[in-house]
Amino acid sequence: MQTVGTMLMTDTSSKAERQGSIAPPKRQQPLRRLIALTLLTLLGGAMVGGTALQAMELVFAGVDLRNGKDINEVCAGCHGEFGQGGKEGEYPRLAGLPAAFIARQLDLFRDRKRTNLAMVESVDHRQLPDADVLDVSAYLASIEIPSKLPPVDETAPGFNAYERLLASKRVVQIPRAEGDVEAGKGLYRRECASCHGARGEGDAKDAVPFLAGQYTPYLWRQVPKYIDKRRLHDPTAPDEPELLASFSETDLRNIFAYLSTLDD
Ligand code: HEC
Ligand code: HEC
Repeated sequence: MQTVGTMLMTDTSSKAERQGSIAPPKRQQPLRRLIALTLLTLLGGAMVGGTALQAMELVFAGVDLRNGKDINEVCAGCHGEFGQGGKEGEYPRLAGLPAAFIARQLDLFRDRKRTNLAMVESVDHRQLPDADVLDVSAYLASIEIPSKLPPVDETAPGFNAYERLLASKRVVQIPRAEGDVEAGKGLYRRECASCHGARGEGDAKDAVPFLAGQYTPYLWRQVPKYIDKRRLHDPTAPDEPELLASFSETDLRNIFAYLSTLDD
């Protein structure tokens, strides 16, 4: 577990650097500092209470959603105009993910710590400086995607088939995945719900992504990455054994089957 202490040390060394007392460590990027600060406060927040949300608000205060929307035009080529994802999960859904989670992933992609050819070609420090990362993350986080269209009477006066077609483009409903939904529900509730939420909705305050409403093939693709530690499931505890490694394929299939029912 990376302790609050380790993080504090990072902070102290940059203070020492300002005072010129020891060899300067590499200066942290502002975003890195902000995210470290957020994590720090999140961990601290668990102990003193009430500060986590404030820290997050601080990090995202003053974001420019209009700029975020402009930047999203680049992302839309793969992730869809509304961040709805596409090609059955080749491109994950981004709409509604926690802003701090999106920002951290973008930072990892920029630093090649999370690798994916398509993403690595789309984001680097020059194309996407820190301010833009925060803007596009906040913009994508703010997009709401319904899982179904509200029922309408197509014969009623004022019904507009074109508007209905446009609205249907933003709808994402995850197809039912195979597996034992009841068994998956039990496992999910015991092993995942504490972080990913009772209904797989994620947790914006703690930067935990939703799992319900995300494409099943995309979730599957992440499993070996966490098991090989190409991604860190719990970034605050890089040395802990990976949780997902302790489940059989059948267990995971059942969990993902359950998750795929939650947006029905
Ligand atoms: C050329 C296609 C392409 C473009 C353009 C692109 N992405 Fe991606 N993105 C991907 C793919 C593919 C993945 C899945 C990577 C994986 O499987 O690990 C991904 C993953 C992500 C993730 C991780 C989501 C998660 O749940 O872990 C984020 C966040 C993201 N992209 C944001 C963006 C943003 C913001 C932009 C625009 C600045 C962008 N992407 C542009 C293809 C693209
Ligand atoms: C201790 C809290 C915690 C628990 C328990 C937990 N997760 Fe996670 N999960 C996270 C965090 C935090 C992330 C984001 C990590 C990152 O930055 O890559 C994540 C990411 C994921 C992702 C990738 C999602 C994406 O959009 O890229 C999958 C898949 C996942 N978890 C599955 C599970 C499953 C299945 C369980 C239960 C067996 C579980 N997690 C239990 C905290 C947790």
